[in-house]
Amino acid sequence: MGRVISLVSLKGGVGKTTLSAALAVELANRFDKKVLLIDANYSAPNLGLHMDIISPGKTVHDVLSSAGTRVSAAVHEKYNVDVIPGNFMFNKEYSPLKLKQKIAQIRRGYDFIIIDSSPSLNEELTSAMLASDSLFIVSTPDYPTLSCSMKTAKIIRQSGRDISGIIVNRVLGRSSQVSLEEVQESINIPVVAMIKDDRRVAKSLYQRVPMPIYAKRSQFSREIGKLAASLVGLKEKRKPWFWNRDMRKEEVNREVLRESFYRSIFKN
Ligand SMILES: Nc1ncnc2c1ncn2[C@@H]1O[C@H](COP(=O)(O)OP(=O)(O)OP(=O)(O)O)[C@@H](O)[C@H]1O
Ligand SMILES: [Mg+2]
Repeated sequence: MGRVISLVSLKGGVGKTTLSAALAVELANRFDKKVLLIDANYSAPNLGLHMDIISPGKTVHDVLSSAGTRVSAAVHEKYNVDVIPGNFMFNKEYSPLKLKQKIAQIRRGYDFIIIDSSPSLNEELTSAMLASDSLFIVSTPDYPTLSCSMKTAKIIRQSGRDISGIIVNRVLGRSSQVSLEEVQESINIPVVAMIKDDRRVAKSLYQRVPMPIYAKRSQFSREIGKLAASLVGLKEKRKPWFWNRDMRKEEVNREVLRESFYRSIFKN
């Protein structure tokens, strides 16, 4: 039974779509998993542009709006990932439960279902939250985003859901940014990945090639690879101890994440 994972944040532009695409591509290509990637940012969908699907036929909007459209009709295969993109021209509201119901029809065929969500605090975000088994908050290391991430966490907790971890994106490694410790302490959730700001992300988007393929050896792609490894229950490869004596905080957090995902694989 496929595990449904959403990347969420109430702040726009933090990297949800970029990271959803990268995580899906990494799980499919490096770990040989069957992955479905869904655009649940219904009012401003752009996942297709990241995955090189320019003018899709059927989309998530068709699946949610018409009872006659089978989910499989909206699946477009790209980079070894099954993608359900959105349609920019559609504007209609959907019952927040609909996505979960549609996913239930096909989740048996997948190992992972990754949902790229909307930054708006509305039924779009609720739809992703209701459909997911695990939620990850994406944040950038600055105070305005951190305050939004605190609010995101509060809303998720109020809905009775757990948060599996925070992915900190666009790290510059400068003292002017908020530290991992500060992010963790303010939101009270472990940071499971620290992804550096990388100019190649813009280039990869321009060419519509997700980062794990465009720049496989970048810190961005290696960190996504380590996160993906913990989701599939594999220990991450570490440098020999004399180079790397102390585990970084995010590595320790991923180890905990790996164990919790590993347990849940056996539960299903
Ligand atoms: N690690 C990174 N380094 C450099 N640029 C990045 C990085 N991650 C994302 N970006 C850039 O940030 C911009 C926003 O990314 P993206 O569209 O993935 O954010 P989002 O959270 O999905 O936005 P929205 O909430 O509007 O859907 C894009 O131009 C993307 O190329
Ligand atoms: Mg997005």
